[in-house]
Amino acid sequence: MAKARSTRYRRVWITGGSSGIGRALARHYRAAGAEVFLSARGPERLARVAEAIGAPAYPLDVTDPKAVHRTVEQIWKEHGPLDLAVLNAGGSPRGEGGLASVLEANLRLNTLAAAHAIDALRPRMRAAGGGTIALVGSLAGYLPLPGGYGYATSKAALIHFAAGLYPELRREGLDLRLVNPGFVRTPLVEANRFPMPFILEPEEAARRIARGLEGGRFEIAFPLRLAWPLRLLRALPLTAWVRVLAWADRRRPR
Ligand SMILES: NC(=O)c1ccc[n+]([C@@H]2O[C@H](COP(=O)([O-])OP(=O)(O)OC[C@H]3O[C@@H](n4cnc5c(N)ncnc54)[C@H](OP(=O)(O)O)[C@@H]3O)[C@@H](O)[C@H]2O)c1
Repeated sequence: MAKARSTRYRRVWITGGSSGIGRALARHYRAAGAEVFLSARGPERLARVAEAIGAPAYPLDVTDPKAVHRTVEQIWKEHGPLDLAVLNAGGSPRGEGGLASVLEANLRLNTLAAAHAIDALRPRMRAAGGGTIALVGSLAGYLPLPGGYGYATSKAALIHFAAGLYPELRREGLDLRLVNPGFVRTPLVEANRFPMPFILEPEEAARRIARGLEGGRFEIAFPLRLAWPLRLLRALPLTAWVRVLAWADRRRPR
């Protein structure tokens, strides 16, 4: 018999809830009996997914700070305090050409948006006596990768940001978590033309995230057979690592 899902979270907000990992996580928490609120930009897809799951939709572009504050305020007013916010919306925007534009677009979506949401959630959660905020990073943020200066840099920045902020939020009674998935089969990686070792289905990723969030660890990284080799490579001096990258680049078919 399938194990019944349960959760200690009663009211959960998930950004990027209309697709992939966010949608699977929303289904997971609904099945566990939580109230779930979903945000994403595209209103039609969001409404469809929200209706199917039974979770009110709050259309939102997370890169718009005013809209983020408005949405958090609205959820609080209509449903009361959130005890879990999963800041999962993310992607790999291309910008308009040029390094600065790519980097800026990725930092806005994958790093700054989390900071805006925390700014909106923090005083409300503190006043409510606590709350959990989970940031969805990526194992891609562990190491500099060729061509990854946009996405991977923004996820690396998110990892630094989260770890540095943890003690301050903890002092205020807030529980900050960092989720670092490896590859998950979603539209985000559909166009990748390189090998994606140990790729997981979104439902499996959602189960692992939810299991981690029921526990107390700061970082929820998976799969460990990808996370550990990357952690060990991270111990290399950067000069050695960029030589490895240059060596691999010379062997890449053009
Ligand atoms: N898939 C992987 O292999 C993988 C691995 C590591 C980490 N991650 C991370 O996991 C998170 C979810 O990714 P996914 O793979 O599930 O991707 P996905 O299937 O493409 O879903 C992305 C979600 O984010 C929403 N979104 C994108 N930009 C937004 C914005 N500006 N404002 C609000 N919502 C926005 C999308 O809806 P709209 O486009 O309608 O807004 C969609 O609901 C991301 O942070 C991603 O970086 C994914």
